[in-house]
Amino acid sequence: MTQTMNLQINRVTESRLASTDFNNLPFGRVFSDHMLAVDYKDGQWQNARIIPFGNIEVTPALTCLHYAQACFEGMKANQDVHTGDVLLFRPRENAKRLNASAIRLGMPSFPEDLFINYLKELIQLDKNWIPDMEDSALYIRPVLFGSDDFIGVRPSETYRLYIIIGPTGPYYGKPVRVKIEEKYVRAFRGGTGDVKAAGNYAATLHPALLAKKEGFDQILWTDGLSHEYVEEIGTMNVFFIVDGKVWTPALSGSILPGITRDSIMQLFKDRGFEVEERKISVQEIINAHQAGKLEDAFGVGTAATVTHIAELGYRGQIFTLPALETRTASFTIKEELIGIKTGRIADRHGWIDRVS
Ligand code: COI
Repeated sequence: MTQTMNLQINRVTESRLASTDFNNLPFGRVFSDHMLAVDYKDGQWQNARIIPFGNIEVTPALTCLHYAQACFEGMKANQDVHTGDVLLFRPRENAKRLNASAIRLGMPSFPEDLFINYLKELIQLDKNWIPDMEDSALYIRPVLFGSDDFIGVRPSETYRLYIIIGPTGPYYGKPVRVKIEEKYVRAFRGGTGDVKAAGNYAATLHPALLAKKEGFDQILWTDGLSHEYVEEIGTMNVFFIVDGKVWTPALSGSILPGITRDSIMQLFKDRGFEVEERKISVQEIINAHQAGKLEDAFGVGTAATVTHIAELGYRGQIFTLPALETRTASFTIKEELIGIKTGRIADRHGWIDRVS
């Protein structure tokens, strides 16, 4: 008997699939027919169920609303272009990171195998929601939060895990303008910047609004102490190509260990690129730009895939990146990543988990 046997399934009476416009799939707005829900109480996970996607009822005293005891994940599934099988990209890494986040926030972990089995059941049920257009996918959003009806500050005694899924196009439709931030801080070492805590994102919203007023799409966060070293973009990890070498900030304790980040580093190494994973100062990037050696800059993430940076803003100056046509290495790697995810390119690293 597998653990998935305990999963209750309550299907929708009528699918919304036929009335969904697959030619208009903004990120995060379209959800499939079903979702997974699991409760934690009396010290164990229980009542795993797949139910119609819809609103949930919570108390206004909810732990997570008051004290941000919440974490989430971002994953993608595609259909194999040859066999039609559903392909999940490195789902165990997400299951592990969800648990790392849960533990850091004082929440119970969720069994990895069960997470993957339940997710596969959900996707199997809603597999017709997987889009097949270029640069689109089924986006998977697991979220885990403290659900006690109590406003004292302590870890919740009850939790809920939901997995919602929906078809999506690219997160960013075009290259982004990014401001290098020196005033506000996303995360300090020893904080929660290296896990996917919901609160990490809240901390970025006010500075992001200010940056938007200056015409930027995103912020490139620097280290919280000196603001000398670049960290990540918040929705993406960051890469640079300087004089033929690939640079990305080393995981410092305040950077999210992105699964796409790890995959992109591997794909560059496979192609013989020298990949430098280390502390990278803002000054080095400016110097490289001034010397004409900053060939490329881009963000990577599950939602963002590979998103090119058009301009970097720093201390009131704008540093324009080279024309996209010249940035062939990152486009090739992006193609390769999408190729692996859609079964067009062989999965030589064992990253794909087939849903059958
Ligand atoms: C993802 O890339 O999946 C993320 O979770 C980042 C962002 C959309 C919040």
